[in-house]
Order: sequence, then C-alpha cells, then structure tokens
Amino acid sequence: MNELDSLVASAQALFAQSATPADLENAKAQFLGKSGRITELMKGLSTLSVEEKKSRGAVINQAKQAIEAALNQRRQALADAELQAQLKAEALDVTLPGRADAAGGLHPVSLTLERIEGIFGSMGFEVADGPEIETDWFNFTALNTPEDHPARSMHDTFYVEGGHLLRTHTSPMQIRHAVQHVKRYRQQLDAGQGMPEIRVIAPGRTYRVDSDATHSPMFHQCEGLWIGENVSFKDLKVVFTDFCRTFFESADLVLRFRPSFFPFTEPSAEIDIQFATGPLAGRWLEVAGSGQVHPNVVRNMGLDPERFIGFAFGMGPDRLTMLRYGVNDLRLFFDGDVRFLRQFQ
Ligand code: PHE
Repeated sequence: MNELDSLVASAQALFAQSATPADLENAKAQFLGKSGRITELMKGLSTLSVEEKKSRGAVINQAKQAIEAALNQRRQALADAELQAQLKAEALDVTLPGRADAAGGLHPVSLTLERIEGIFGSMGFEVADGPEIETDWFNFTALNTPEDHPARSMHDTFYVEGGHLLRTHTSPMQIRHAVQHVKRYRQQLDAGQGMPEIRVIAPGRTYRVDSDATHSPMFHQCEGLWIGENVSFKDLKVVFTDFCRTFFESADLVLRFRPSFFPFTEPSAEIDIQFATGPLAGRWLEVAGSGQVHPNVVRNMGLDPERFIGFAFGMGPDRLTMLRYGVNDLRLFFDGDVRFLRQFQ
C-alpha cells in the first residue's frame, strides 16, 4: 500500500469511528482542513517540476476525492441513524387501544330529584327553587315556630353573619312560593273571586348541625304544598301514596300516617312506608313529615284560613335514594368517590 492509499485508509477508519457529526467534522479537518494532510501534500507540489506536478497532483487529487467520498458517505450514514433514532423515539403504537371520553353522569340524589319532579309534575305540581341562606322569618317565624322552639337553638341550626341562617328545611319555600302566587291574584281575591290552586314542590339542599351514618350536615329535602278551597287530608293520602308506589315501582307498597307534631301543620303526621317484598319487607320506614297547613301559616301566605286550606309535606330525597338502591351509609353520597358514584350510571 503506498503512502496515499494508507492516508485514504486512515481517513476512512477515522470517519468510521466518528460517532457524531461533530466528531466527523473534526476528523475531516485532519485531512482536508487548512493544515490537513491532503492540504499539506498539495502545498508540497510547488517545489516539483511541471511534469511531476501533473502526475503527483493527479494522484493526490484521487486520494482527496476518495476521502471526500468517504466523508460524504459517513455524513449520510450519521444523518440516517439520527433520523431513525428520532423516528423510533417518536413512534406511535397504533395498536394501543384508544382512550374513550369518560362520560359524566348524574349523582344518585340528582337522579332521585329528577324522578320526584317527574312524578309530581305528572300530578300537576310546579317545581320551585329558593335560597339556601334564609331569614329567621321564612325558616321559623312565618312557619308558626315559637321563639323558644328547640330547632332554633345553635345546636341545631347553622347561623351565619348578619342574623341569617342556613335553612334547616325546605318549608320556607311554602311561604316564599305562596306569597308570590297570592300576589299575582291579589286583585281577584280582594274582589271575592278565586285563584288557581297552589300546587308546588320545592327540592333543594338543607342544613343542620348533625353528622353520623344517617345524618349529614348538608342533606336534601323536597317540600310539597297544595292549597285550595277544597283540599283535604284525603288528597294528601292519595297523592303521597301514588307518589311512593310510582317512585319505588311497587304497587303493593303500603303507607302509614302516624300522628306527630310540627308547628306549621295541624294535624300533623309522619309518613311511613312498608315494602311487601325485597330485603326491607315488613319494616316501617319513615320517609316524610306532613300535615294540614296551620291557619297561622295560611295567614302568613296572605290568605284567609277560613277559606283556604291544604296540606304540606317534606320528604328526604337522600333517604329515598338509600332505600331505592340499598345504600346503608348516607356519607357515601357526599364523599365524591367515583367508584361509588359510577355505579349509578
Ligand atoms: N319541615 C319538616 C321537617 O323538616 C317536614 C314537614 C314539611 C312537615 C311539611 C310537615 C309539613 O322535618
């Protein structure tokens, strides 16, 4: 191997060892740079004769071209390798299963509220909504609740700044809704004419200082109110029996109206239900408070209690949800654990 062949061979070897483009450019400089080996050889030609210049120059040139060819080849190889590495790093595995959009769903208590609204809606009841921060007037006084009633104590009621409170039941909606309704028909009423009956339910959040497996400081209630000139306790029984049987899809479910006391109804009754079949069969389960609206409350609605009469009830949608789905701890509803909530989708 002559001197130039071995120069080409050593260039090829050095290029092959260059692992990066920067290494390769350094290796190139050793041969083709300003003071590289080939450049030095070219400079040496100046001392030769014209003839020798020609033949020697041609040989050096050949070597130079061989080195340049090796350089370009290696440049290309490094670029290809880099591209391959990049492609590999950014590769998409198109065989991976896709990630579907997680569809949201309604909370079980919301499902119950929708169910309640649907059933009472079919019986001609409107749905009303009202504030959760209430005044003492709407929550207690207008509902005939005496000044010293235990429900008004700090142990039972959350009071907020400014003398307001978190409503302890949805009953204030009886007054709020009735007052609005009566206002609309005031002139008619004053002229001795009638008004369309008040038939409304008011579902929503309520608050009490209470917390255990069956009581949460925040819970739901749904109020019902039906006021007219000829509405009786019998209507309450029919409406509520119908509601319970439809809600639980159980035609043989029975109800019991158990005498009780509420300041805003007289007479008053707790409503218990009993399933004929299923895991709870034979047990009386309390689901609502109810009664004929007290004359003082009718008066606070702006109506004459000698003429207008009706009934009200207040039930617990959380409890209805527990009974319907067989959930035994109320707190599960409000923990926000998706493993629990997902089961209702
Ligand atoms: N507000 C009562 C409660 O929270 C329930 C009720 C409503 C009773 C309407 C009678 C009439 O316990």
